[in-house]
Amino acid sequence: MTAYVEIFEVGPRDGLQNEQCQISVVDKISLVNCLSRAGFRRIECASFVSPKRVPQMADSALVLDGIHRDPHVAYAALTPNMRGYRDAVQAGVDEIAVFGSASEGFSRANINATISESLDRFRPVVEAARLADIPVRGYVSCVIECPYEGRVSPDDVADVADRLFAMGCSEISLGDTIGRGTPESITQMLMAVAERIPTEKLAGHYHDTGRRALENIDASLDVGVRIFDTAIGGLGGCPFAPGSAGNVATERVVRHVESHGYVTGLDLLVIDEAAKQASGLRG
Ligand code: HMG
Ligand code: MG
Repeated sequence: MTAYVEIFEVGPRDGLQNEQCQISVVDKISLVNCLSRAGFRRIECASFVSPKRVPQMADSALVLDGIHRDPHVAYAALTPNMRGYRDAVQAGVDEIAVFGSASEGFSRANINATISESLDRFRPVVEAARLADIPVRGYVSCVIECPYEGRVSPDDVADVADRLFAMGCSEISLGDTIGRGTPESITQMLMAVAERIPTEKLAGHYHDTGRRALENIDASLDVGVRIFDTAIGGLGGCPFAPGSAGNVATERVVRHVESHGYVTGLDLLVIDEAAKQASGLRG
């Protein structure tokens, strides 16, 4: 097992999407530019979804157009359908993500589709990205609990994850969207998914609502997961998951895993500077 842990920064997307006050394009660009100096391989900084549903992300193309592109960083965006895909490609995105759910209730609330309909929508997106040589991440939300349906079974998570992986997603990010996971439930869920997908293709995406995200990361490391999604300053939440707090904070995760002997390759001075910027943006 390698000692390298990739921290996938999602603050400019998952973090900012939930802020009620409109944040200026200039401030968003400035945050991404700061994060670009920290040593991340990938930063999720845009989302090509309906501006009526997520107004904060309506200026995603302007953000991608305005940032200083570090050639060592891949700039990623959410693309729920072909329209989002085309807009993202036009904006010069390096990596895209489709996002599904392990629970029907959240799928309906988030993207207005059943799980099966959502997979049908993703298929042409993944295929177009494959032809264009653009990596696709597949998110699975509500891997522990759903705000509308309660407990979600690990088998249901494994099933959706497997279908996204079989479709051509190169990595599956497992979202504890409302932060109800415990080391026990996270381990159980990961074991079910790992029966079908190699652990090196999995990422842990843990919201910190229950304040157990760091413990959940430890449990995931024990299972062999080496990629974790975090948001600078602990920004965020999901507008369609009542009660979801921010993703676990990047600066806490970096310190935590490094204190356990893992290497992230990240510059904590820059990360702390970005965390300061992020807290200034909070409404
Ligand atoms: P729909 O509701 O099925 O309806 O959209 P539609 O396809 O008929 O479109 C509705 C309206 O959206 C139309 O506009 C379309 O033109 C427009 P109107 O006629 O009403 O003016 N539209 C678009 N506009 C811009 N870009 C597009 C696009 N597509 C349609 N790509 C859709 C389905 C998914 C688009 C919609 O439901 C939506 O945008 N939902 C928001 C989903 C979202 O962004 N959720 C938050 C991110 S997911 C998350 O945070 C979880 C995650 O972090 C993991 C975790 O924590 O678990 C990833
Ligand atoms: Mg999230």
